[in-house]
This record gives sequence, C-alpha cells and structure tokens, in this order.
Amino acid sequence: LGVKAQLAGVPIPRNNWYRNGRDERNYKVTVVGAGGGIGQPLSLLLKQNPLIHQLTLHDLSKTKGVAADLSHICTPTQVDFFEGVQQQALIDALQDSHVVVVSAGQPRKPGMTRGELLSTNAAVAMAVSCAAGISCPQALLAFITNPINMLVPIAAEFLKVKGVYDPKRLFGITTLDVVRAKTFIADFMNLNPAMVDIPIIGGHSGDTILPVFSHCSPQFTGNEEDVERLTNRIQQAGNEVIEAKAGQGSATHSMAFASARFVNALLRGLNNEANVIECAYVDSDVTELPFFATPVLLGPNGIKENLGLPELNSAEQDALERMLPELGESIKLAIEFAQTVI
Ligand code: LMR
Repeated sequence: LGVKAQLAGVPIPRNNWYRNGRDERNYKVTVVGAGGGIGQPLSLLLKQNPLIHQLTLHDLSKTKGVAADLSHICTPTQVDFFEGVQQQALIDALQDSHVVVVSAGQPRKPGMTRGELLSTNAAVAMAVSCAAGISCPQALLAFITNPINMLVPIAAEFLKVKGVYDPKRLFGITTLDVVRAKTFIADFMNLNPAMVDIPIIGGHSGDTILPVFSHCSPQFTGNEEDVERLTNRIQQAGNEVIEAKAGQGSATHSMAFASARFVNALLRGLNNEANVIECAYVDSDVTELPFFATPVLLGPNGIKENLGLPELNSAEQDALERMLPELGESIKLAIEFAQTVI
C-alpha cells in the first residue's frame, strides 16, 4: 500500500511511513537521571531524534510524569519509564539499550569543585556500570554526571569486574565545552556558532579543559590575550552558570543540548555514517594518562579511531603539560577509590 499510495501521489500517514521498512529509527536510548534538571530537557530533545525508536527514562522518582508528558509529543519515538531506588528498576530500564546516557547525581553548589562531588556521585557510576553489565553489555555508555574526570575511570573499573569492559564503548561527555567554545568564539568573531569548530582536549574541569585555538576553524582572528581570556571563560563557564543560578544548581539546558548532540553522534556512528567526529573523554593512550579527551571518530562499535592530539603550539603544549599532573591525580584517586569498594 505504501508504494502504491506514493505512486498515486497520496500522502502516506507518518506512522505507516515509519513502519514500512525505510525506518532509520532503530535504536533504544536510556536516560538515567531522566527526572532531573538535565535529564528532562535531554529527554525532550531525544524524543525528537529520528534515529531513536525507544526512549526509556529512568530515575529514582518523577519519570512516570515526565514519560506521560513526553509521550504526547507527536514524534514516533516510543517513551517508557522505570523508577525506584531498587537496582532492579535500573537493570530493567537498561535492558537491550544501544546507548545509555547518564545524568543522575547531584550538581555542584557555588564554591564547590567538580571533584568534591565524587563521594556523592560515585555510586551512580557503580550502579549504572553494574546494571549495564547485566542488561546491555554492548551498549555505548556516556556519562554527563560529574566529576567526569573521575567517574569514567570508576565506571571502567566496575565494567572490568563484570567482564564487559570495552574501552571503545565508554565516554565522558565533554561536548558542552565545545558548545561553549563555539558560542564564545562566534560572538568574538561575529559568526554563526554553527560555522565554528575547535577541538577541546584533556578533561572536563578547570585547567584540564584545553581548547586548541591553533586548530580553530575558521582560523581564530584574536591575539594571544584574546586566546587567554576566552580559554579562561570556557574553563570557568560551569562556574558562570552556577553563580548565576545562585544555589539552584548548575548548567542544565546547555548541558542537555550538548549531550543530545553527543548522543546523536553516537547513533550516527552506530548507523555507520562516515566522518562522525566528536571530542570525548575516553580510555586513551595518546598521553601518559589512561583517560584523556581528544577528537574521536565514531562508528558501529563506538570509537572507530582515536584521532589523538592535534599538533599544539608552544603555549598549548605548556598548558597540556601543566594540566597532566592534576588530571593524572584525579584519575589515580578515582581508580584507587573504585578498587577499595569493588
Ligand atoms: C558544566 O560544565 O556546566 C557542568 O560540568 C556542571 C558543573 O558542575 O559546572
């Protein structure tokens, strides 16, 4: 009927269109923390993603309402939900997911570092990795929850214990740093932010966020002072939002936007689209540290290729050398922490 109707010029009802074999909407994505400040707008954006056929929401509470609300939006993506403190709810939510994106946990308060969230949020990395090991060992697992620099290595330790660790399938989402850099650079150069691209390497906190201005496209037109000022703004942008929110949390909408963009890139990779490249904090051998953010090429099994360090100018090389001890110390502490609780 679909083909006949098309030949006759009769519009095909969308629901049939999506069921007639030409559907690209093949993936199940689960949002862990879907009731929270990031999880809700992230789920709203994912409900509109044409590659997702099943969007599953998980949180300790609130997901029933969020799922009912989202389910009225006229896109074909199906929404379901799981909630409760029991690990079984998480295990059920993750069942057969292709991508799991994790925003659960506490946000920073003014004056806190991301590292200070470790004791509160480490449990999220542990619970999700253990559940993923049972329900979706092949899934791509992407963390938003802070401290990213530490939770990703912790998740890796737990996935190893479960015997399902694949370094190509675990990600810390650093896309918000890139999104912010595109915005601030576009403002400075009076461009549309969509035209700006810049690799951001290192990690996701303070000095570990290193925008590589020498590889900005189009070429950055400012001087050294401008690079320094904008680098500092990108590194401190999380604090800018936390201070403006004055105790009511950290970035939610921009983080949701950035994470939805990253999830879309993961899905395009799963779909075997060519040249899907994003910066992400991943298991790495490009520096002496076991985890590091660089541009990665995404594919059907997660990371197809780590594109490594862009060539750095001397100021960028100095900044890299200055950040390595701090990032290395965070990773070391995280791995020790994981090993004491395993
Ligand atoms: C951000 O960069 O906005 C997030 O990592 C949240 C935070 O704590 O700053």
